[in-house]
Amino acid sequence: KDENGSPPPPSFKEIISTHPTENGWKVFQHLCFYQGFWCFPLHLKGAMFAQHHFKAQATDVFLCSAPKTGNTWLKALSVAIVTRNDNSNNNLLLNKVPHECIMFLEKDLIKNPTAQSDEGRLPLVATHLPYTALPKSILHSGCKMVYICRDPKDAFVSLWHFARGIKINNNPDLPIDVAFELYSQGKSNFGPYWDHVLGYWKASQENPEKVHFMRYENLLTDTISEVKRLAECLGYPFSFEEEKQGSVEKLVNLCSLQNLSSLEINKNGKYGDAERGINNNVYFRKGKIGDWMNYLTPEMGEKLDNIMEEKLSGSGFTF
Ligand code: A3P
Repeated sequence: KDENGSPPPPSFKEIISTHPTENGWKVFQHLCFYQGFWCFPLHLKGAMFAQHHFKAQATDVFLCSAPKTGNTWLKALSVAIVTRNDNSNNNLLLNKVPHECIMFLEKDLIKNPTAQSDEGRLPLVATHLPYTALPKSILHSGCKMVYICRDPKDAFVSLWHFARGIKINNNPDLPIDVAFELYSQGKSNFGPYWDHVLGYWKASQENPEKVHFMRYENLLTDTISEVKRLAECLGYPFSFEEEKQGSVEKLVNLCSLQNLSSLEINKNGKYGDAERGINNNVYFRKGKIGDWMNYLTPEMGEKLDNIMEEKLSGSGFTF
């Protein structure tokens, strides 16, 4: 048995060859269905590695999200909050895309397994893994989680743009109605989206002290209060003095879409390995509520709403 008390995983090749796959998104890899969710093999390999080798520290806070629901913003805010009085780290966001400031569980650990015990690392770890697929040590340690979700219609449109931004070769752009069909069937990276939301929603209901549940829309419309709550949850609350001096507003401005997207590192930098790195600018687009209306018909919107309503019914959660 490994560090998490689990039996050794089946070989990675075995999984990829025996589980359903879906290549409809035509980005850089096909999706593979494993443990109840769809995932690119590259991330799946990292996820399996993390499930077997990651040891959570009680002081870690996990920033959890499905793709395109606001995790870049959540990371930026969290990094800014925990480093605001730390001279050695307080310029991090000016020099690195938010994704590079903290450990990304299923991407980074496999590349550098000792990074988890680096003394200097920030007490933040990001993951797209569904709640049910998290390494056991996260569930069993006392560490907290923050989950951010977003209206599925906007999350889908954001994902469709992102998929165009990361596709390889000269694959033609994926028609939005084809992508929409896949998404509606739950076939998206770390999807089905409804299961992703449901897993963390239930966990937050059972243990609100441990799982802080956020919505991208609330963060946009009530930023200051949401950021203050986030800081409390991270264990770095703003003092009365800081509030009086406008520290919350300053931090919010630093992490705004407008500011981050205008930084050189986010305009022209790249994230990840040299040959398949992602241009940082694809992480920053409009950041609006309701942009889906510019891309989907009202019927498509209604269809996704109905699917979500049905899948989430009885949970007490609605979008
Ligand atoms: P849009 O594509 O709708 O503009 P993720 O960070 O999970 O990949 O989600 C990406 C979405 O968050 C994109 O939405 C992006 O524009 C938006 N976003 C990125 N940084 C942001 C920020 N600092 N503030 C608000 N929204 C942000």
